[in-house]
Amino acid sequence: MIKKCLFPAAGYGTRFLPATKATPKEMLPVLTKPLIQYGVEEAVEAGIHTMAIVTGRGKRAIEDHFDISYELEHQIKGGSKEHLLDDIRALIEQCTFSYTRQVEMKGLGHAILTGETLIGNEPFAVVLADDLCTNTAKGVLSQMIEVYEKYQCSIVAIEEVPMDQTDKYGVIAGHLVDGTDDTYRVTDMVEKPDPKDAPTNMAIIGRYILTPDIFDILRNTKPGKGGEIQITDALLEQAKKGKVIAYKFKGKRFDCGSVDGFVEATNYFYKNIK
Ligand code: G1P
Repeated sequence: MIKKCLFPAAGYGTRFLPATKATPKEMLPVLTKPLIQYGVEEAVEAGIHTMAIVTGRGKRAIEDHFDISYELEHQIKGGSKEHLLDDIRALIEQCTFSYTRQVEMKGLGHAILTGETLIGNEPFAVVLADDLCTNTAKGVLSQMIEVYEKYQCSIVAIEEVPMDQTDKYGVIAGHLVDGTDDTYRVTDMVEKPDPKDAPTNMAIIGRYILTPDIFDILRNTKPGKGGEIQITDALLEQAKKGKVIAYKFKGKRFDCGSVDGFVEATNYFYKNIK
């Protein structure tokens, strides 16, 4: 069983300045819902109710969002707008939210290691809220948990990207397993390779299931690409032992860490989900 989901949410969101000067990037809304709420809803849909959030300075709004605002509740009680709080109220009732701060920005691997105190010694999910995922049937995390139940090792979600974009992602190589057409045993992974060095165009998106031995590996992982501690490098250690599966998920993903992806997501949700 996967019971906990980790949300690394300490980054500065510099691509969205000045919007992110005083507002966490995870709180930017697609329509009326902040990005991180979509992530939490995806985790709940996958049966997860314990949310572990790695924050940093200036991220207080995230904590306030997943809490009751008595003044606001009082103000809109019985009015025509009250139903607009239904979804977030339901999440607050069903879930617990714990927070820890990443004091220095030393990369995604370091952010995940910072979350160890909230996770402990059990397998867990990771959601990067700026990758917004949607699917008409099962959510991406639900699909990944099914894969985890079968293989009992770390799982990364992947999608094919144009070859000239490999330098934006962790990229994997592997071979299909058990006659599937969507599940690969990973043999290699590289963080943000130049297209000429990329082993494939299969890019990791911001959804992971990690086994807890990843924490010890991360503790011993040297800074890699960009001088940061990379989760991709730590996962490569597991992959060398055949312990990483890459799963080509069903659904759509929007890169809401970029302005283009954010606008695309907004248009898509406006047309299809509203
Ligand atoms: C991170 C990871 C990268 C992964 C990506 C998915 O990069 O380092 O391997 O492909 O998330 O969104 P970031 O987007 O934080 O630069």
